[in-house]
Amino acid sequence: MKSFSISINKKINKFKNTIIVDGDKSISHRFFLIASQAIGVSKASGILEAGDIFNTISALRKLNVKILKKKNEYYVFGNGLGSFKIKKNTSINCGNAGTLSRLLCGMLVSYPVKIKLFGDKSLNKRPMRRIIEPLQKFGMSFYPKNKSTLPLIVSGSQIPMPNEYDEKIGSAQIKSALINASLLSPGISKINEIKKSRNHHEIMLKHAGANIKIKKNTIIIKGESEFNSFNLKVPGDISSASFFIALTILSKNSKIVIKNICLNPTRAGIITILKKMRANIKIKNIKKVCGETTGDIIVNSSKLKKINCPKSLVPYAIDEFCILMIIAAGATGTSTFSGLGELNKKESPRLNIMNEILNKIGIKTIKKKDSIKIFGNPNLNLKNNYIVKSYMKDHRVCMASVIAALSFGGKWEIKNAECVATSFPSFYKLIKKVGGIIEKK
Ligand code: S3P
Repeated sequence: MKSFSISINKKINKFKNTIIVDGDKSISHRFFLIASQAIGVSKASGILEAGDIFNTISALRKLNVKILKKKNEYYVFGNGLGSFKIKKNTSINCGNAGTLSRLLCGMLVSYPVKIKLFGDKSLNKRPMRRIIEPLQKFGMSFYPKNKSTLPLIVSGSQIPMPNEYDEKIGSAQIKSALINASLLSPGISKINEIKKSRNHHEIMLKHAGANIKIKKNTIIIKGESEFNSFNLKVPGDISSASFFIALTILSKNSKIVIKNICLNPTRAGIITILKKMRANIKIKNIKKVCGETTGDIIVNSSKLKKINCPKSLVPYAIDEFCILMIIAAGATGTSTFSGLGELNKKESPRLNIMNEILNKIGIKTIKKKDSIKIFGNPNLNLKNNYIVKSYMKDHRVCMASVIAALSFGGKWEIKNAECVATSFPSFYKLIKKVGGIIEKK
């Protein structure tokens, strides 16, 4: 996609709006991946049509999975577990999508063929050791030996072995990659969730009727058990919604209703965190749709107080810390976020980058290896010029900067602004809808 910059020179005026954000990214990835292993044609509406998901669709098509779009629905023609047809010298571009790269590795466990996986500049820097080591125990090989980042050559085994693994990072990508490998390995595999993470994978597999059980913190999978195709409705992405929640909270006399958002408790950590900060947020219309909890989020402008964010909430809000740091900058008092070690392993080193942005706009911080103290200023009213590079084209750093500009004022230039298309293609359109003025350069 062609690179462009945007400029923002004016705070947003008060607004009252109802919006619908794009579909959930984690659920959309999983629909295509899981449906490719089902028997029959699965159908989904509400799929996120963004860069990361297009990479998942292309990857599966390369592995001979038929995927079609008709009207607003996607159809995946699954042929059951282990039904990929892999050509010699196949190489798969995962783009910016960590979820695709890691989850797909697990799905290749039963194919004794060499496949090259690579990503863009950002993904090629992200840690893969976390899945290499456990997947080796299932019988997978990774080349070059001792390399722990993409590009990698991966190869499965004719006789994958079931396994038991303790997942201690709190990473849904590791957990889901291992569930995928377990589905293809004969016998019983177990994943002990020492640190809990988002559970969309388990929910979707249950919804599809796969042989997966959850007992306390252990996920038990009976491998080589086929499951049938399924239909899915994908709700809106809370990670995308969070930028509009922030904009409303930080603006005066404003209100927003964000319809049909996935409120799975392992994803909705930002709501708990913001409520602890005394944000005026209400949830209505709660439903269970295809196993996931959904609802409408109603947000009013709020006077926020500081938070000492419990570490236990971090995995449930892991993608929201860029915007949470901007919100804390506008709160009264000093907020502390700790247990953030994973944040520097995302699309960009987010803890470091957001710290730099906060300092640039005059917010005092104390950053350590995996924590940050943010000295909030509820009267923040910026006057200077600010240039943000969206380092590594990190979509969430870019969107958090847009919200800072519209909430705190000043004259901003945000480079590589096209990167929002990775996860939230409607972002600028919705900003315009609520009255934000953005100039494309
Ligand atoms: C995701 C899990 C999280 C999250 C990412 C999506 C998923 O990553 O940051 O955006 O869909 O499983 P980790 O598993 O690395 O925490």
